Amino acid sequence: MTIAFIDLAAQQSRIRSRLDARLKQVMDRGDYIMGREVGELETALSERLGGHHTISCSSGTDALILGLLGLQVRPGDGIIVPSFTFAASAESIAVLGASPVFAEVEEASFNLDPNLLGDALSAGKKAGLNMVGIMAVGLFGQPANLPAISEFAAKNGLWLLDDAAQSFGAKWAEKPVGQFGAVTATSFFPAKPLGCYGDGGALFTGDDKIAGIVRSCRIHGQGSDKYENIHIGMTARLDTMQAAVLLAKLEIFDEELAARQQIAERYNKMLEDIVTTPKLADATTSSWAQYVIRLPEGGDRSAIQADLAKKGVPTAIYYPRPMHTQPVYTHYPVSTSGLALTEKMASDVLALPMHPYLEKDTQIRIVQALESALAIKAA
Ligand SMILES: Cc1ncc(COP(=O)(O)O)c(C=O)c1O
Repeated sequence: MTIAFIDLAAQQSRIRSRLDARLKQVMDRGDYIMGREVGELETALSERLGGHHTISCSSGTDALILGLLGLQVRPGDGIIVPSFTFAASAESIAVLGASPVFAEVEEASFNLDPNLLGDALSAGKKAGLNMVGIMAVGLFGQPANLPAISEFAAKNGLWLLDDAAQSFGAKWAEKPVGQFGAVTATSFFPAKPLGCYGDGGALFTGDDKIAGIVRSCRIHGQGSDKYENIHIGMTARLDTMQAAVLLAKLEIFDEELAARQQIAERYNKMLEDIVTTPKLADATTSSWAQYVIRLPEGGDRSAIQADLAKKGVPTAIYYPRPMHTQPVYTHYPVSTSGLALTEKMASDVLALPMHPYLEKDTQIRIVQALESALAIKAA
């Protein structure tokens, strides 16, 4: 039997009656756009983040674009971003006519290396860009070193936007992701740790001015009434139905985060002698959106993946090709010290099944299948 890579069905069977009740309420009222649950969700998320503004929206990508609009990014601006990330991080910058400047990541966390930010800043300046900010990404669920990155940003007159599409729910030294930097963006794509049943996202900020611009831009840049436009905006609202789904899932989110942590620890113990397992920085937690290992040198990743698939173990590669090597991004600046580690990681990472309902016996089966796939390759 094939194992689920992410088991949304197990989660749904746990909360189905709550989901049905919440969705029925929306249908009974018919307030599908900006309805009651949208406000309830925003209030609940703001409470989680100690009073920061929450502005829900139509996707994680739109949350990033709205955040950049709130920060008043202009064509010709340069923004430091890792190359080892999902396309949306760099795309949100480029689509506004600004320029991503690709920076190197750290070996342990897969995230921006705070010690190499200066090299990316130099590359952006050399390219003639007006360097305005840093977009950090909490890849696979672990936040980037947000305190160190904030310090660098402050010293260099840059803002920090945290792409927490994968890391919402994690903490750095007890401080939740969502409270660092000028803006945090997250995604509610179904496979994310807190996911809805379609596209959705949210943006968090402690800055009233940014919140005002973003709220307006989410609805066509509207002003004090519906037919006054004060910004160039977009249609980027979260549907009431999706907010209803998220409210049902939010009730069990912390339990699910704890379960993911336990599952990651079990994987770490079982795998630490055979592959490179993910390591969390001290005082950091992860939302474990993905559990990503690195394969030993010389292994044939495609053959290993194919062998695992034959044994019913699905895997994925996040991400096989760094952004700076993608056809449409090759002309953007790259850190002066290069991106060798990014390129190496893209060639040896492998994501294993990860979700809060993964049972110990299934994990044992996954580990045994991986051991035998690795042995074939070594033979
Ligand atoms: C790091 C990162 N940023 C942004 C996004 C974009 O989110 P969405 O798919 O909701 O637009 C994703 C989604 O996979 C992501 O992983």
